[in-house]
Amino acid sequence: MTDMLAPYYPWIVLLHLACAIVFVGAAAFEVFVLEGLHKVIDIATMGRIETAVMARVRRFMPVVVLLLFLSGFALFDLRCNGLQCLGSTRFGWFLLAKAILAFGVLGVFVNAVWAGAHGRMNACRFRYTHRIVLSLMAAIVFLAKTMFYL
Ligand code: HEM
Repeated sequence: MTDMLAPYYPWIVLLHLACAIVFVGAAAFEVFVLEGLHKVIDIATMGRIETAVMARVRRFMPVVVLLLFLSGFALFDLRCNGLQCLGSTRFGWFLLAKAILAFGVLGVFVNAVWAGAHGRMNACRFRYTHRIVLSLMAAIVFLAKTMFYL
């Protein structure tokens, strides 16, 4: 598998990075921009805006997240030579921590999409979901870059 993927490595990294930018960017927009609007827009209108945002996100984000994880697995295979780096190098431990946090994000994301689709997403849950996701993502991006240098 590693040999088969190797020629495509630059494209896989590019895809992974592009998907990460869209995913992290959406969470940052929701925390830093949307949350701030609560101070200037009434609750009913804000509720409608958040419902519309969630509906829009549900249309394309699952594909972005799927590509992010598929490219992540391919990069894992390439960088770790299968599972060989795990437990033996510092890089391997950082990468493992990054992958575990990524699965944490996936769990919260799937839960939020499910709740939104079944009308169980309220303003409070909306806010805390995005704060948790953004915090986990900040840790993932930190590990993604420091795993090569620390
Ligand atoms: C929320 C999910 C994820 C986010 C936000 C994320 C983000 C990132 C970012 C920003 C980079 C640095 C890319 C660069 O600058 O070149 C990266 C690299 C990497 N990611 Fe992820 N990632 C996620 C999920 C995963 C998963 C699930 C795996 C594997 C199981 C994975 C494996 C890797 C590997 C191996 C690299 C190193 C790529 C390289 O430079 O060779 N990622 N990730």
